[in-house]
Amino acid sequence: MWGMNAPNQRPIGIFDSGVGGLTVAASVRKALPSENIIYFGDTARVPYGNKSRSTVTRFSGQISDFLVEKNVKAIVIACNTASSFSQSYLRRNYDLPVIGVIKPGVEKAVSLSKNGRIGVIGTEAMVSSRAYEKELFKISSKHKLFQESCPLFVPLVENRMTSGEITSKIAEKYLRPLKRRGIDTLILGCTHYPMLRPVLSEILEGVKMVDSSEAVAEALRKVLEERHLLACGKRRKNRTVCYVSDDPLKFGKISGMFLKCPVSVRKVVLA
Ligand code: DGL
Repeated sequence: MWGMNAPNQRPIGIFDSGVGGLTVAASVRKALPSENIIYFGDTARVPYGNKSRSTVTRFSGQISDFLVEKNVKAIVIACNTASSFSQSYLRRNYDLPVIGVIKPGVEKAVSLSKNGRIGVIGTEAMVSSRAYEKELFKISSKHKLFQESCPLFVPLVENRMTSGEITSKIAEKYLRPLKRRGIDTLILGCTHYPMLRPVLSEILEGVKMVDSSEAVAEALRKVLEERHLLACGKRRKNRTVCYVSDDPLKFGKISGMFLKCPVSVRKVVLA
């Protein structure tokens, strides 16, 4: 479709285990309105958050092969679990820019935190990988990181329970230890969590929230600029095409909640 275009007119590939990465796609659309996007949601194999490093890396490789076949100019891993487990593997094995969500999120948090106490919430797999801790260690020795896994948040968002009593109670339980630690900045270390931002902000009053999706869009712009790969034609409206590994209708319905615009969704079976 975009295969014969000049290098900078090629699309950007974005992938996630499911719909959550659409928060990143939405930020990329906003920050880079001239870019075309190919999004892959691995809906047949979601969640990644309870799977092993080797499984998630194998899935990430299959998806990247698919995106490379679609002639993308860069790959954005719009999933915290896949970024934690597979980013270095993809960088070693694919000859194009690979941007994950961890580094941009950590950099943003460090720039925002005044008291040096940063919290991060995510899936069990992401937390156990300690990826955020390792990244922070590279950037600063002055900041302290406190992690909490919140396994019920993804199903709550997927079931559109982004507010209400049950969601608040669960969020209070998950966030209590972080509140006790006196964090002043919280990284939303899972693609679904920006949808819960109002509930989280109510519980952690005054705590700055880092939505990695915005930081990722900025990191992507920087890389594309450096490599002269930014699409030209500022006024052109971008196109987003989504591929999923399970039912496209279901994905199409829930994707509106994230992207707020109609998208075309196609099913593809990865070998
Ligand atoms: N996209 C995943 C992440 O950001 C959350 C959903 C899942 O567990 O697959 O970690």
